[in-house]
Parts: sequence; C-alpha cells; structure tokens
Amino acid sequence: MAELLVEGCNRLKGEVTVQGAKNSALPILAATVATADESVLYNCPRLSDVDSAVKILRYLGCSATFSGHSLVVDTKGLCCDHIPDALMRQMRSSIVFLGAILTRLKTAKLTFPGGCELGARPIDLHLDALSRMGATISEKHGEIVCAAPKGLVGANIALAFPSVGATENIIIAATRAKGTTVITNAAREPEIEDLCAYLNSCGASIRGAGEGTVVIDGTDKLHGTAHTIIPDRIVAATLMSAAAVTGSDITLRGVISSHLSAVIPVFEEAGCDIRIKDGDLTINAPGRLRAFSTVRTTPYPGFPTDAQAPLMAVATLAQGTTVFVENIFENRYKHASELVRLGAKVRTEGKVAVVEGVRELYSSSLQGSDLRGCACLAVASLAAQGKTTIDTTGYLERGYENFDVVLRNLGANIKMI
Ligand code: EPZ
Repeated sequence: MAELLVEGCNRLKGEVTVQGAKNSALPILAATVATADESVLYNCPRLSDVDSAVKILRYLGCSATFSGHSLVVDTKGLCCDHIPDALMRQMRSSIVFLGAILTRLKTAKLTFPGGCELGARPIDLHLDALSRMGATISEKHGEIVCAAPKGLVGANIALAFPSVGATENIIIAATRAKGTTVITNAAREPEIEDLCAYLNSCGASIRGAGEGTVVIDGTDKLHGTAHTIIPDRIVAATLMSAAAVTGSDITLRGVISSHLSAVIPVFEEAGCDIRIKDGDLTINAPGRLRAFSTVRTTPYPGFPTDAQAPLMAVATLAQGTTVFVENIFENRYKHASELVRLGAKVRTEGKVAVVEGVRELYSSSLQGSDLRGCACLAVASLAAQGKTTIDTTGYLERGYENFDVVLRNLGANIKMI
C-alpha cells in the first residue's frame, strides 16, 4: 500500500522542471503501433500508467526500452491483435490502442478499459466512429471484437461530445485509412496537438490539430521519428496549488503558459502573482488567499476537469465561498468528503460543490480514490497543522513522477512509504 506522510505548514521555495505530459505520452505510445517502425520519445514521464502502456506494447510483440526519460519503441514486431483484460483494466487509455492495432492487423480484441472511476466513462464514441470507418464491432461477455478485413476507410465523424480519447483513437486509425477522415467537434486539448505533431513527423497528413475540425488524409505507410513530449499542464497546476496553499514563491521550469490560459486567471483571482518568462512560470502566493469566481470545467480551452481537484484544495483556505461545477465527469468529487476530515467546509450536490474557506486545516488520516483526488488531498495536507497520512493506493504514481521527492526538494515535509 502506498502511503503518503505529510507534516504540514512548511513554506515552499525554489524551482522545479515540470515532467512530460502523461496524457500526451499515452496516446503517442499507442500511435507508435501504427508506424511499424522505431521511434524515440524524449521527456517521457516515468509513471505507472506509462509502464502499463509499455507492458501492452511488449505483449503485442513490440519492444520498448527506457533510458532515463527517453523511451525507444519499435513496433515492427507487432504480432498480437488482442490486449488481455488485466492490462486493459490498468488504465483508461488502453482503449486508444484499438485504432492503432486495427490499422496494422485489421483485427483487434480488447475488453473495456480501466482508469480512475470518475463515472461511467463509456466508449461508445470510440466504437461508433470506428464502425463508421468500416470496422465491424461486436461485444460479448465484456470483450470487444473488431475487424476491418479490407482495412479502414476515411469517413466524416461528428462527435456528439469532444471526447479526448475518441478523438485520439479516430486520428490514429485515420492515418492509415483509405481516403480522408474529417472529425467535427473534435477535442482541442494540447495533448491532441502533440499526438498529431508526432504522427505528422511520422509521415501522416493531419490538419487542424487543436481545432474543432481535424482532417486526416490516410496514407499506406508511416515511419518512425524522434519526438519530445510536451510538459504536463495538470502537474503544473498541481504544483501551483501547492504553492498557493502554503503561501510560497516557487518557479516552474519548462511550462507552456498558453496551455494554462484557463487556470492562471483563477490563481490570480485568488491573490497569487504569476509571472511568465521564457517558459518559466513564477508564482508568488499571498498570506491569505481570496475565494474565486465559479469554476466550471469544460473541454479545452476551458477550465480542465483534471485541475478541479487541485484547485479545490486551494479554495478550502481562501477567504470567502467558491463554487465548482464539474461538467465533464459525473462522479469527480470523491476528494470532497476527505477534505472535510481536514476541517474544510465542502458541500457537494450533483455537479456542484460549494467550498467555504476556513482559516486553518488540521491533520487527519485520508483515503484517496483517484489520481487527481489524491493530488488534491496531498496539496491540502501541505497546509494542515500536524501529520497527515494519505492512503494513495498507488494512484499518485499513475500521473505524478516522484511526487514526494519533487515537493520535498521544494521544502515540504512529505514522504511516500
Ligand atoms: C482524457 O480521458 C484524460 N485521460 C482524462 O485525464 C481527462 O480528464 C479527460 O480526457 C477529459 O479531459 C487521458 O488522456 C489518458 P473523454 P478520456 O473521452 O479520454 C464521456 C487524468 O486525471 N465519453 O474526453 O477518457 C466520458 O464519460 C485523466 O489524467 C462518452 O460518453 O476523456 C466523460 O464524461 C482523468 N463516450 C466525457 O465524455 C465515449 O466514448 C469526457 O471523456 C468517450 C467519452
């Protein structure tokens, strides 16, 4: 069991380089399967979710070797069209391998993906799109069997919701389809842009990445490349939250500030001074935070759902009342009841959470339930009087590389045991 021990109320100071983006590395690892070649990924974060993707690649017959933060992947040897349930259940983005396997082997057998339990998290948008591209899909006993014996064909796909994973799955599948695929209402997250940058450098022809309409002209061959993964904007937001709750001044190195355009104003409204210079972001937090306007999570470029939990930790200590509206996932407030154990005043009802700021938080023993919820509890405990223990049950390592070491290097009294 992974337990985080935190002795709160230390001020933080210093600087830290933000890790590579988990939600960029994962779809790119799936996309390597479509290239049937060797790629080198730089700035790849060392996370348990990345390890799960590497295990899937190796199970499929590919090779993947880490050297520091560089990962060399060779998918020439792909020889297996199915991913076992145990590997599928380890993370949500296992489903994004579906399109990639189909483009190579014309068949694919998967089960339903795992990942943080934030609600139903269906995959209907993924499967509907691939069937529009010519795949026959059947589901029985929890197994999804896909076949496209003549290969996939380009199609016009109008997504009912700008799903990140579905957009990624379709883009990867479309790179090797016959003809052109046009996705409307596509997800616009920076991680989609990074995936498309990787695929275009592999010889794909993708236009409109990061916009609502993405056009992919299929090609019959892709090749490997070298690609540097973008920094993780949610890790940046989490570290900013840690500075905010401890009244600290820290500098984050290697940040793409435009990826945080919906997040930075919230910290400024809370009373933090944010300065950006050449990829470095410095945050100076006030002694007492102010409550901020209602935070509504929406698809990018709106406020990211993944930053809702870390910012709720900030709101618990802000003078006044802050309201959150979680519009993306139907069950993403599990951290609220644990924050109350620290003395926070949080009430939730459906999509809405109301946080009434308090002057102090007090240590407790907490239980994490998902990746960003654990990060929220860790951030809040940095500001709690006394020693807090958090049973993270391995969630933090899924998305934060050396979370305790990074914060300890900034002066926090925190240790993962
Ligand atoms: C990605 O998940 C991220 N994960 C999530 O980050 C992130 O919260 C989410 O996008 C939204 O930004 C990875 O990239 C690995 P979605 P994904 O498909 O692709 C519904 C983290 O903490 N939906 O955009 O699963 C779904 O139920 C994780 O790093 C369907 O209804 O998100 C949800 O309500 C958590 N049918 C909404 O869309 C589908 O076929 C958003 O899901 C697909 C999705």
